[in-house]
Amino acid sequence: MKRLTEFDDLADPTFSDAVIAWQRAHGRHTLPWQNTRDAYRVWLSEIMLQQTQVAAVLGYYARFLERFPTVQDLAAAPVEDVMTYWSGLGYYTRARNLHACAQRVVNEYGGVFPSDPALLADLPGIGRSTAAAITAFSNGTRAAILDGNVKRVFARVFGVEQYPGEKRVEEALWRRADALLPEEGIESYTQGLMDLGATLCTRSKPDCGRCPLQARCVAYATGRTAELPVRKPKKTSPEKRADLLVVVHEGEVLLEQRPGSGIWGGLLSLPEVEGHVALGDMAPSMLAPAEASMAGALGRFGELEEVQALLPLVHVFTHYKLHIFPHKVTPVARPATPPGFVWWKLADVDQAALPAPVKKLLLELGRPSLF
Ligand code: ADE
Ligand code: SF4
Repeated sequence: MKRLTEFDDLADPTFSDAVIAWQRAHGRHTLPWQNTRDAYRVWLSEIMLQQTQVAAVLGYYARFLERFPTVQDLAAAPVEDVMTYWSGLGYYTRARNLHACAQRVVNEYGGVFPSDPALLADLPGIGRSTAAAITAFSNGTRAAILDGNVKRVFARVFGVEQYPGEKRVEEALWRRADALLPEEGIESYTQGLMDLGATLCTRSKPDCGRCPLQARCVAYATGRTAELPVRKPKKTSPEKRADLLVVVHEGEVLLEQRPGSGIWGGLLSLPEVEGHVALGDMAPSMLAPAEASMAGALGRFGELEEVQALLPLVHVFTHYKLHIFPHKVTPVARPATPPGFVWWKLADVDQAALPAPVKKLLLELGRPSLF
């Protein structure tokens, strides 16, 4: 019995047939880097097109080739000249890599770009997809591309529900891309995928009415072209909990000077019960301070009339969410003021250098009727 590999499973010659036929009838055929097998020209265009649209590349491409007609000219030029001719295209690492790559092609390959995509991908600025495009266009080598546009087309056609930038998803897409390669017509197929992504299957409002893949497109069939590909999932921000003591005596509250660094560095704040850790995905209420920590924190204030849990509040920082659990502490007598602490009139808290959520909490508490 023939063992079915995943590769066989994904193969579907009608896919490339559809792309190739569409490219030949409706794709782009007169771009200045087409109709040549000169690897230098193809390489230059693919690098320029990596993060820049065709319309913006055209002028730069012409001026660049006029100044650096061959890979030897480029390799021999001072890098400053290269930067000058790249200036305005953006992503300048591309220009420095371009120059370094030209020098390696001259020094290691006698000025002839290698035709093996794996050797190409080892050169500066050439990733797996760019290597495949260069060698498909300049040698007719069967190798799969998978740039951002192709990822979008595949995510829609195959109904990929996961974020395509994630490593395992990307690996699966590479397997698809490999399996779908045509036996013949790699140039038209490769250009066709690029043209589809750039002209029909655009990020917003794809033109599905003209698309050769419509009949097999999961996103189209299920009305989810706007949802696919899914966006990069937001990192869930970690959650922390802080238990703050609101020690109140005769209309004054005990504030602590915080150390100069760390969150709320240098501000006054409410004394905090130590012994908390980041909670990850755990609900903050799961991790109240240990009884011993709480007892230790309260022990500094002598005999207590009452400890009352106030309503928790949430404060969102850029990198985490802080759940503040305030505990109102009413000592029987005014306790000694520990070093670094001050008593502050509740009526004057708006003038204290306090973190915003702490100030808000105290302003609410400070309304005279509550004390
Ligand atoms: N984007 C990347 N490569 C391209 C090419 N060869 N033609 C058009 N757009 C492209
Ligand atoms: Fe993209 Fe629409 Fe074509 Fe699907 S049918 S591949 S969404 S253009």
